[in-house]
Amino acid sequence: MAMVVLGAGGGLGRAITLELSKQYPDERIFALSRQPEVPETDSSDVTYCRIEDYDEKALGAWVSEFKNNGEQLSGVVSTIGMLHDEETFPEKKLTDITADNLNKLFSVNAVKPMLALKAFLPILDRKKTRFWVQLSAKVGSIEDNYLGGWYAYRSSKAGLNMLLKTASIELKRTHKNLIVAAIHPGTTDTRLSEPFQERISTDKLYSPELSAERIVAVVKNLKPENTGALWHWDGSRLPY
Ligand SMILES: NC(=O)c1ccc[n+]([C@@H]2O[C@H](COP(=O)([O-])OP(=O)(O)OC[C@H]3O[C@@H](n4cnc5c(N)ncnc54)[C@H](OP(=O)(O)O)[C@@H]3O)[C@@H](O)[C@H]2O)c1
Repeated sequence: MAMVVLGAGGGLGRAITLELSKQYPDERIFALSRQPEVPETDSSDVTYCRIEDYDEKALGAWVSEFKNNGEQLSGVVSTIGMLHDEETFPEKKLTDITADNLNKLFSVNAVKPMLALKAFLPILDRKKTRFWVQLSAKVGSIEDNYLGGWYAYRSSKAGLNMLLKTASIELKRTHKNLIVAAIHPGTTDTRLSEPFQERISTDKLYSPELSAERIVAVVKNLKPENTGALWHWDGSRLPY
């Protein structure tokens, strides 16, 4: 059996790849990234694969190869997501909103993860595939939004949560052992959180290794009846 990590070149993606290889020594881990150079590990169970992008064409081709090689999928953790880049920074107020930023964040945080799930459908085994996990964010919880701001990030993660919940309902009918879950990793010391770390007390900023440990522990504890929910890294359920 094999597991797949999408976005394996990012801070959490790298740490989750290593944690999965530690926790599941009998499984092969395929670590997919767009980055040309992903640091190799000494774990012979991890296979790094470069992918052009997380779109239907590139993922579809990868999935076909996986299938043709006779591999069987036990689970996927996708870390795909963004908060900022050179041109995009989280909005503080309504006047900061632009169509470009909204489109970009919806595309990376909601559209790409869902096209990935769609592309993986042919290899989601009805009995043996146990989880589809996508990292989301607590700030994407509509009910939990007390501070405002970060319009594009919040709403794209809220949209992601709805898309995952909807897919969980459809997949429950055919894939009775599959858990579809969104997980909030906690504020983790990666490129994504880097510009915002000054405001966070050191005991609330977690290392990628610690967050990966917690995320994999949540994944291990989930049961099929838990499908379609948003989880905190401590294993508690977050409101949508
Ligand atoms: N760090 C935190 O404090 C924090 C808090 C809450 C939620 N999260 C969520 O956790 C996940 C992982 O974040 P991270 O902290 O590990 O950030 P990161 O280091 O920036 O990694 C993000 C990953 O998303 C992929 N990605 C980024 N921009 C993309 C684009 N334009 N198109 C396609 N893929 C793109 C990259 O995959 P490649 O490997 O292919 O480059 C990268 O590995 C994200 O979904 C994020 O929203 C993080």
